[in-house]
Amino acid sequence: MNVLVIHGPNLHLLGRRAPEIYGAATLKQLDAGIKKHAAGLGQKVRIFQSNSEGKIIDLLTANAGWADALVINPGAYTHYSYAIRDAIEGLGLPAVEVHLSDIARREPFRRISVIKPVCLAQFKGEGRRSYFKALDYCLSLPPKGK
Ligand code: DQA
Repeated sequence: MNVLVIHGPNLHLLGRRAPEIYGAATLKQLDAGIKKHAAGLGQKVRIFQSNSEGKIIDLLTANAGWADALVINPGAYTHYSYAIRDAIEGLGLPAVEVHLSDIARREPFRRISVIKPVCLAQFKGEGRRSYFKALDYCLSLPPKGK
């Protein structure tokens, strides 16, 4: 199965951005872990990071035909991007939301996810393991068109 992985804004700063919250690993290290985990599950992955809402929507659109599932950490867009929410819904991509931190136990504005209603599952608060659990979850989804 093909899994599209998208990291949203500021995740390029992993490793130096609030390591007490997001961990010490860089995005490159996180991506290496994602690729390894996905390979172990027999999944193919395409991984992108963007700081721009429009770019994320363009990436979703461009890769929707290829992808059987989407694993997305929308970063701060989680909390207010109706545009990304609508793109996921409009493309009909089975989506899984992930967060490194536990957004339910942080500032009040982070407790709201406008993305959650268009996702099949949400994994949060477990660092890179949140992504691994999302990939595991994707295995339970039927390949597209089936
Ligand atoms: C995050 C949580 C968001 O609130 C924050 O804006 C991020 C990262 C996470 O992975 O924990 O950029 O999505």
